[in-house]
Amino acid sequence: MKLFIMGAALRRESFNRKLAAVAALVARAKGATVDLADFADFTMPLYDGDIEDNEGMPEGGRKFSARVKAADGLIFSVPEYNNSVSGPFKNALDWMSREKPYAFRGKPVLMLGATSGKAQALQGIAATRVPLTFLGSYIYPGWLGVAHGATAFSEDGSQLVDKAAQKRLETLTDEFLVFVERNARTPVKT
Ligand SMILES: Cc1cc2nc3c(=O)[nH]c(=O)nc-3n(C[C@H](O)[C@H](O)[C@H](O)COP(=O)(O)O)c2cc1C
Repeated sequence: MKLFIMGAALRRESFNRKLAAVAALVARAKGATVDLADFADFTMPLYDGDIEDNEGMPEGGRKFSARVKAADGLIFSVPEYNNSVSGPFKNALDWMSREKPYAFRGKPVLMLGATSGKAQALQGIAATRVPLTFLGSYIYPGWLGVAHGATAFSEDGSQLVDKAAQKRLETLTDEFLVFVERNARTPVKT
């Protein structure tokens, strides 16, 4: 199974980037082929219908779409901005909605999230499900939120300090790989 895994945040020391890296290690250990992506490689201008009319899909959008399409399943670690989806990621998803059929159509998605505070990105995860579902992806019902990002990761970045959370990530990944495999047997027709 090929998984596309990405922290949906731009800053270098992003907790979501770190959580995506831990998820990639877990998924690889379970036999998945992993494309660990850097959101900064998919930079897109703020959606503007004039840019679309004059220039079409930005290069970052074309790259994002191609990498999503090449995967059997997707794992996103998303931040929570103002109890909702982060602006940069929503902008990327808005661009993705301008290409038909949607790259996300029929793609299983596992949602993770990390925050600096105590809220575990729960509302960020919940809100990000809305556009992902609109784009036709199948969101796995289980999720993992990580609070207090500054102290949540081991020094080498290979795992979560909280052993129960690390175990939850491993169990979720097992479950998600079954979900992805089932879906791959009956993919949607595009
Ligand atoms: C514009 C903005 C809004 C934020 N809103 C929330 C929020 O609603 N809830 C929360 O737990 N953290 C919020 N935070 C703090 C983020 O959890 C924190 O900046 C986190 O590090 C962002 O993810 P990253 O580390 O992957 O960049 C916000 C941060 C920013 C910049």
